[in-house]
Amino acid sequence: MSLTTEQKYKPYDKWTEEEVQKIKENAASSPWHTVFHVEPAYGLLNDPNGFSYFKGKWQLFYQYFPFGAAHGLKSWVQTESTDLIHFKETGTILYPDTSLDSHGMYSGSAMQFGDKLFIFYTGNVRDENWVRHTYQNGGLLDSSGHLEKVPQTLIAKPDDVTEHFRDPQIFFYKGDYYAIIGAQSLDKKGFIKLYKALNNSYKEWAFVGDLDFDNDATSYMIECPNLVFVDDQPVLLYCPQGLDKKVISYDNIYPNMYKIGQTFDTEKAALINPSEIHNLDYGFEVYATQAFNAPNGQALSISWIGLPDVEYPTDKYDYQGAMSLVKELTIKDGKLYQYPVDAITSLRQEEKTFTNMSSTNNTYELELTFDKDSRSEIILFADQNGRGLSVVVDTKKGEILLDRSQAGEQYALEYGTTRSCAIDNEVTTANIFIDKSIFEIFINKGEKVFTGRVFPHADQNGIVIKQGQPIGKYFELNY
Ligand code: FRU
Repeated sequence: MSLTTEQKYKPYDKWTEEEVQKIKENAASSPWHTVFHVEPAYGLLNDPNGFSYFKGKWQLFYQYFPFGAAHGLKSWVQTESTDLIHFKETGTILYPDTSLDSHGMYSGSAMQFGDKLFIFYTGNVRDENWVRHTYQNGGLLDSSGHLEKVPQTLIAKPDDVTEHFRDPQIFFYKGDYYAIIGAQSLDKKGFIKLYKALNNSYKEWAFVGDLDFDNDATSYMIECPNLVFVDDQPVLLYCPQGLDKKVISYDNIYPNMYKIGQTFDTEKAALINPSEIHNLDYGFEVYATQAFNAPNGQALSISWIGLPDVEYPTDKYDYQGAMSLVKELTIKDGKLYQYPVDAITSLRQEEKTFTNMSSTNNTYELELTFDKDSRSEIILFADQNGRGLSVVVDTKKGEILLDRSQAGEQYALEYGTTRSCAIDNEVTTANIFIDKSIFEIFINKGEKVFTGRVFPHADQNGIVIKQGQPIGKYFELNY
């Protein structure tokens, strides 16, 4: 089942129809396909890419390997949306087909220039000795879906970084275009480089500086850096691999973190007065979150619900990975909030009072309120014996605790089966979105977020209130 390097990098056109048919059929037989989240019918999805707005539609691409649950030769799949909730897949449109990206169309971003969508991506190349080379490349997509790659690389690898230099994010700030790129220094530390477009053209980029955000410099690589602006405050989202847990505690194999600055100084390449580092999400998997400022200024983000170097129960069905809901980023009292865009309520069907339920479709939203000085435990994906995903909201103790050890097929056990975060002893709300094998839990409308997967057994579809009296609503969700 696991693919050899040769299979992972076999050219797409060398896979026979029979081989692909087998993969498709196997994937279709999985009991865990989601309903209102983006996921591939078969093959592996990882990072969100090119999240942007172009010609009246939201564009969302994703990193994709079609031939099973493996990180092989990557391409970009395109999806489009008019409401940020329903995404329609239009197919794989960016292939690793040039000498500047022969071993993978790696992650990147997109922004409209003229009547085209400019795609800024990393070309991953391996030479005959399997040594990695990295190129920051461009492409122009027209509204009919035709892509033309820029023939020359746009930003060459600087001398002070290793071959781990990737994931350009383009953004527009006060009249200029900028890009940040994740990097590894020669002494193997993660950092971020800032570039500025000359003459407001995507063709020429000048190095501004190494981004100063009070980087603790304990990671060995920073992947997928993103800078977005919330009411002019810069928010840096990034994935510092190998970050020292003394700096901040986290449980997942690789963390997705953020910092908020007071302002962004383009000349000094600095976030001025950066906040402490924070976990973006307290759940079991959120990675490579991509964010951008929409034409109306709104800051939108979307995450890969998955992690590199982790095996998932869906692997045996030849597929892996899903996208989170699209979240709007706001700042209240200096804190970052992440909450699904308003249109998510359009999925709500008839409202019911929240109570025990012996069976659901595992596609619903709960909107719950927990009292101050209380402890409640609810079990989602519960079987007849009340085994499932345990969610404890303990305002008295000041903690939220998730335990997925009784929820379906187990995996990634070396990273533990529980996740938690601190909360205040106040009335606390939770909006919980359940989609077959995904949960997204938004505490106090996005002050804290827990995202993750569970792969329930066939009879795990109930809801049990094990302790406490949380009150609230249940909405079946219909896509
Ligand atoms: C993050 C990442 C990126 C890279 C892409 C390759 O998950 O490793 O740094 O561009 O995935 O698929």
